[in-house]
Amino acid sequence: MNGFIFDLDGVIVDTAKYHYLAWKNLADELGVPFTEEDNEHFKGVSRKRCLEILLEMGNISLPQSEFDRLLVEKNEDYLSYIEQMDESEILPDVPKVLNYLRERNIPMALGSASKNARAILKKVNLTEYFQTIVDGTQVTAAKPDPQVFLIAAERLGTDPDACVVFEDALAGIEAANRANMLSIGIGEPETLTDARHVFRDFTEISTAFIESLLDH
Ligand code: G6P
Ligand code: MG
Repeated sequence: MNGFIFDLDGVIVDTAKYHYLAWKNLADELGVPFTEEDNEHFKGVSRKRCLEILLEMGNISLPQSEFDRLLVEKNEDYLSYIEQMDESEILPDVPKVLNYLRERNIPMALGSASKNARAILKKVNLTEYFQTIVDGTQVTAAKPDPQVFLIAAERLGTDPDACVVFEDALAGIEAANRANMLSIGIGEPETLTDARHVFRDFTEISTAFIESLLDH
């Protein structure tokens, strides 16, 4: 394996909780019941598609202008949560893995559905680790479509089947598998059943395991 692709939200930083809070606020406003389990299906899914799903859940149809207004409202709410983010919000042992790979000159990419990905990476000071950043502003087909990861592989100059993807979302694991990449789930094994390997977080990933991927 000689290309490592990382999702952002829920893999590198715990922004999933802020996305949840912002969607929950909007769901309450719309009178749609929304649980953390519902939020699992929002992970890795584009902002627009998330709102469509939320409205479907509440059997609500809205004019386009109102739909667009709610998208802005959700994002402004989300941005208010992430405004204060700094390095302390990097998930445990992520820097250990990034440094390990960087020391070995392994090309790394970010592959995120978020349009806020660059801003977040900057806040937590990790931008420089990635040769390329593919985010929600650059794709036409959202996860589970493999496009975001295929673009990342192409920019890294690595064949898709020599890429590893770290993902916390069901949609992201599906996208990685469809791209013919090695999918590594970060989260609950009961949830991420389609991932090739699953770890609860990076503290469970040993350097021996990373090394075995490099030799793969
Ligand atoms: C990530 C998150 C999703 C979020 C999406 C779009 O993939 O896991 O929950 O909906 O990005 O994020 P954005 O910051 O563009 O609203
Ligand atoms: Mg994610």
